[in-house]
Amino acid sequence: MNRTLGTCYYPEHWPREVWEEDARRMAELGLTWVRIGEFAWKRLEPSEGDYQFGWLDDAIAVLKGAGLKVILGTPTATPPRWMIDKLPDMLALDAEGRPRKFGSRRHYCFSFEPYKAECARIVTALAERYGRDVDAWQTDNEYGCHDTTLSYSDAARDAFRAWLSRRYNGIEALNTSWGNVFWSMDYDGFDQIELPNLTVTEPNPAHSMAFRRFSSDQVVAFNKLQVDIIRAHSDAPIAHNYMGKVTDFDHFDVGADLDIASWDSYPLGFLEDRAGAGEAHQIAYARQGDPDFQAFHHDLYRSVGRGRLWIMEQQPGPVNWAPYNPEPLPGMVRLWSWEAFAHGAEAVCYFRWRQAPFAQEQMHAGLLRPDSAEAPAFAEAAEVAREIADAPTASVTQAPVALIYDYASEWGWSLQPHGAGLGYFKLLLDTYRALRKLGLSVDIVPPDAKALTGYKLILAPGLLTPDPALVHALAGSEAEVIVGPRFGARTADMATPVPLPPSLPGIDVTVARVESLRPGAEIALANGGAVLGYRDILEGGAPVIEATSDSQPVMMREGALSYLGGWLDQPALTRALSEACARAGVHVREMPEGVRCRDTATERFWFNYSTETVDIDGNTLAPAGVLRQEL
Ligand code: GAL
Repeated sequence: MNRTLGTCYYPEHWPREVWEEDARRMAELGLTWVRIGEFAWKRLEPSEGDYQFGWLDDAIAVLKGAGLKVILGTPTATPPRWMIDKLPDMLALDAEGRPRKFGSRRHYCFSFEPYKAECARIVTALAERYGRDVDAWQTDNEYGCHDTTLSYSDAARDAFRAWLSRRYNGIEALNTSWGNVFWSMDYDGFDQIELPNLTVTEPNPAHSMAFRRFSSDQVVAFNKLQVDIIRAHSDAPIAHNYMGKVTDFDHFDVGADLDIASWDSYPLGFLEDRAGAGEAHQIAYARQGDPDFQAFHHDLYRSVGRGRLWIMEQQPGPVNWAPYNPEPLPGMVRLWSWEAFAHGAEAVCYFRWRQAPFAQEQMHAGLLRPDSAEAPAFAEAAEVAREIADAPTASVTQAPVALIYDYASEWGWSLQPHGAGLGYFKLLLDTYRALRKLGLSVDIVPPDAKALTGYKLILAPGLLTPDPALVHALAGSEAEVIVGPRFGARTADMATPVPLPPSLPGIDVTVARVESLRPGAEIALANGGAVLGYRDILEGGAPVIEATSDSQPVMMREGALSYLGGWLDQPALTRALSEACARAGVHVREMPEGVRCRDTATERFWFNYSTETVDIDGNTLAPAGVLRQEL
């Protein structure tokens, strides 16, 4: 695998006279890739059917003439204003039934078929014209960003009814699976079923879960429509740029139709709202970003891309959209780039080439300032370009530890969190963080029995709805396996299974009851640390590994299979994971605060996210420092 750099460029934002100079500077900087076009629909088709592709022909020729490779984005995230006149019902509606209006982007409903026909038309025109010229494709832009997966439109309702009638064998089967006898919610036909919004109190979680599954499938279908068209005209690989902590659609399902999983990494933007972990943490990492959030997504999306990962957009300086937008610590742009490579990225593209002096993102840094002078990230990108020339290739190796990530469990937790602030993503990130603090490289894998081969330790925290094959594979695995809390706690239709969960062959444990805990009401463990937020109350004959200070079981184990019945704090989680690693023969090494490491097949990387200089095996690692050791 080659390591390459790129940038995101908007030729339509700049006078024609600067394009050559821009392209020359990009190539001189050592960039390989330029992504263009993803918001340019109005410039490509100013009015219906009036295609104006001349400027894009020109831009592609200029960029390719400078030796750059072009990633062409389909412009379907920004349908032009005339489209709304033509198709006023194409807008998504929010849960209150209000339209998500024109004037920014992503103003479309995934279920509105006439809009999908417009998308097919523009994508066909682009694929026919550029199929042989461009080096890669990006479909749309950041599905689900700005909370755009779920739409409560009439089109969504009609498509949902059709989806339900395909999924359930008649309305009686749906009534039974959903438990609609409760509160007299039985339906007489699919055409009576509304979307689960604007109900008096919460809708049936089965109804909401079906809507979440349906909405995810709509994103998959929307993407596949474009992919099929592009493939008919082009052999270039196709990616989509996913976002950080957008969990409303199943990325594994979308990724199955694509060649590459790429994502948009904004470490400082994500810190406040998405990475969590409290105010002290946010202050300590304000200029570096969370030490685990980016790595988590690299590992997740590498798996979504079946091994092929790109960073389509890399933060180069302050963004405009987080609650606070500091400058990165000098060196962090280089660190983030190398960290992506260490996790298997083939390309890191900086967003954006030049800061825009107009519109919504004026306060978002680029590699260049609006006056075309170099912004601080430029020199760091140049340094990375020189460094990858010396370490051009690498290959990813299977990690010793697998962490299962399941989008349906994410939806289930969000529908029934059982306590304020509890969520699947947070539980997974907490677990991932504890593993990384022990110096471990981790693979994040889909909830698929076939994905578990070759690991020494497998973790399935919070996995609410495992399928029977996965339960069987986990119970029969030769690896050390830890499942729970909430393992198998719901059926696919959000019912509680009886016999009670986890119903795992090989271990005598039953979740008798559950409870959630407010902050400050943690339950102390006998060996130190505590259960936070959520607890499964356990029964059964399996030996107890962890217990509360008043001797109630929290973790039980038989053979290599453990059930963990609580959301542990970091000290308790670290102890439980260290012990499991010792049993599994996985070497651990506690990291200094803010330091993380990651192995490729031939290298070990160290990254210093802290503001202190640390010593690693006799090497000095300054703040924002990167250390690369050959293995
Ligand atoms: C991304 C988006 C880009 C740009 C960027 C700003 O989410 O894909 O178009 O808006 O954020 O940080």
